[in-house]
Amino acid sequence: MTVPYGTRLAARMTRRLGRACVYTPSARLALYLALRRWCRPGGRVLMSPVNDDVILFVVLAAGLRPVQAPVSVWDGNIDPDAVPESTWRGLDAVLTTNLYGMPDRVVEIRRRCDQLGIPLIEDAAHAIGTHVDGRPVGTFGEAAAFSLSKHTAGMAGGFLAVDDPRDRRELEALRDDLLVPGRLRADLETALRPLARSAVRRLGLVRPVWRTLQRLGLLERDGYRMDLHAARLAAGAHKAPSLTAYEPWVRVDLHTYRARQGPLVRGQLGVRLAALDRTLTRCRAGVTRLSDSVWATPLLRERAHDGVLPLFRVPLLVQDRDTLVDRLVTHGVVAGYLYDPPLDDYAGEEFADPSPAPGPARWFASHVLPADPLQAGRILRALHREGTGPARPPGR
Ligand SMILES: Cc1ncc(COP(=O)(O)O)c(C=O)c1O
Repeated sequence: MTVPYGTRLAARMTRRLGRACVYTPSARLALYLALRRWCRPGGRVLMSPVNDDVILFVVLAAGLRPVQAPVSVWDGNIDPDAVPESTWRGLDAVLTTNLYGMPDRVVEIRRRCDQLGIPLIEDAAHAIGTHVDGRPVGTFGEAAAFSLSKHTAGMAGGFLAVDDPRDRRELEALRDDLLVPGRLRADLETALRPLARSAVRRLGLVRPVWRTLQRLGLLERDGYRMDLHAARLAAGAHKAPSLTAYEPWVRVDLHTYRARQGPLVRGQLGVRLAALDRTLTRCRAGVTRLSDSVWATPLLRERAHDGVLPLFRVPLLVQDRDTLVDRLVTHGVVAGYLYDPPLDDYAGEEFADPSPAPGPARWFASHVLPADPLQAGRILRALHREGTGPARPPGR
């Protein structure tokens, strides 16, 4: 019998999480597998509109209708109390975000899903190492997707963790059908890019390199969101569920998202995964510094005090965010993971049910500065030098 693809990495993650895991080349592929396995085509999936556009396209590719939830103005995650009863009753699944590593109100959401008899899929791409009531994010849902690109600074790797280990074989087979052959050249790029990135940072070359990439048009997005190409997107709906039909949207920022990477990439990911706890310890120190700053929200401070830390990025709230993001490049800081405008404003009613209360998502998405805890000192110095004011939601 042949050993399933990515078995060693999956075994490592299984030990870490205490749940059966399937290795995938990316979290987006893991989410696609989960949605295909647990939702019937045409189903309605509740999700936060403050999310990566790629995830909206993954939901569409799975043949599902994205239903945009009202969110908390403090962290951009689903506000379960604000979701109308009629919306709850029309759902087929819930997809959490755990945005930047701030956990969703997952205990409450789990309870609602159980009452309604619908699956909970956790997007834990930002949340390796975040716990809720002593339990890791990614162990509450029927399935959870993790991304190694985020916490280990690799340019690849993900897992689908499942509640019932009997699902593993079926998901591995589904994954294998979706994988495309890897290429040595792409694997070399995947292995070398993180090294090049950290060299650029160490040499203080972030600003010239970033500006050059911008000028040469080498970045895949001009703004925070990719172009929607609405007419082409609508044509894709006739072929859904299909990853191939949605490939131009789903692959953005990670063209190898479903490539069968070879031993070079998987070996490097193994090394990075082994170092994960050390990386997370460094992140914790940075989160503590950032959550003590004037730009931190009361929720962030309260959560940090309870040991619930957003280890991927710390959501600071700042005035004049867009100007600041541009200015930060001169301080050697490239702020990524900005999800503005919210997905319902971005995609429109043709592609998503709009949130019944869009205000908090709009406000949060346009004021949040996701700060990398590993760059806490540099970011805090830059915010002081720029005279950045903290932002507070209207009426709070
Ligand atoms: C919230 C969220 N989920 C999932 C993903 C996809 O992760 P990956 O790049 O590993 O496919 C991203 C990517 O940025 C993300 O921001």
